[in-house]
Amino acid sequence: MTVNTLHWIDGDTPNSGFCRMVEQTLLPTEFVELDVKTVPAMVDAIWRLAVRGAPAIGVAAGYGMLLGVQGQEGRDREDLMGFLRETAATLAKARPTAVNLFWALDRMVARAQADFDAGADSTALVAGQFEEAKAIHSEDADQCREMGRLGADLIQDGWTILTHCNAGALATGGMGTALAPMYTAHEQGKKIAVYADETRPLLQGARLTTWELMQAGIDVTLITDNMAAQVMKEGRIDAVIVGSDRIARNGDVCNKIGTYGVAVLAKHHGIPFYVVAPRSTIDVEVASGDEIPIEERPDYEITEGYGKRTAPEGAKVYAPAFDVTPAALVTAIVTEAGVVHAPDTEKILAVMAR
Ligand code: MRU
Repeated sequence: MTVNTLHWIDGDTPNSGFCRMVEQTLLPTEFVELDVKTVPAMVDAIWRLAVRGAPAIGVAAGYGMLLGVQGQEGRDREDLMGFLRETAATLAKARPTAVNLFWALDRMVARAQADFDAGADSTALVAGQFEEAKAIHSEDADQCREMGRLGADLIQDGWTILTHCNAGALATGGMGTALAPMYTAHEQGKKIAVYADETRPLLQGARLTTWELMQAGIDVTLITDNMAAQVMKEGRIDAVIVGSDRIARNGDVCNKIGTYGVAVLAKHHGIPFYVVAPRSTIDVEVASGDEIPIEERPDYEITEGYGKRTAPEGAKVYAPAFDVTPAALVTAIVTEAGVVHAPDTEKILAVMAR
């Protein structure tokens, strides 16, 4: 899979440049790249879902910090540290659920603190931020490959897999999370097919997953979310594979709204339910899924999605963007550091310690 979801374009001077990203709100009808050059523009891009998917949001957060710090070398170093923390706090407001956003911002601030403690001047502090943001991106790409390799071992030749939302290259700085094992299995010559849930209301499955898999030459069939039960009952699905925005310490998995329903259906039909996510998506600070903040999106994304009004003016709407699948419904979580079967707190802490 070759789509380059986001990357840093270096400027003419050291520690300068901007972030170029695929404007995902326009896919699949238009492939347009967006140049993001300021911190408010990055917050807006994340909130609008121009860049989306937990790992890609983490990479974007690192680049957002660079947009903030570049040109700040002239500041006093104490002052620069304060400015950096403020920039991180601004970026942290973009979206609440995907923990990769906060993970990446914490990592950027921790790098600055370590450089500061080692006596770095402001120029070196800014240079350190550039190194760290680029490392977050390249490590994400490596982790996707590794999850692809480990996850592909779970996929049998001839399998048909159901996925929800988009957890592919468009959602990461690499080849994807949930889609990575499918790409790898396909490369290995296994014959696989995919059913992609449309993923109401913002249609990441229809617009993005279907587009990505068709580009890669993988057999993909689009269904609306409410067709999943029937498709499973007809015996068409061998496994469900999804990504995640935040995994709690006990193995509860938060992902795009509708995932929980798919997991319940998979359990009923005896179909394995796999989650593929890097350890940067595991939040050991939250004991269970109940503590994960669930983003609520504006009502117009449901009542006037993509330009057509589909509900009466003034209709009352509730629009949670994510839900939580209890660990008991999860067959295994595939991370870059290993596969956690039947996840629980002990196993999650063990994979985090690797
Ligand atoms: O609202 P989105 O499109 O950012 O939601 C994305 C998802 O729910 C993905 O499944 C998740 O982030 C995993 S992406 C590798």
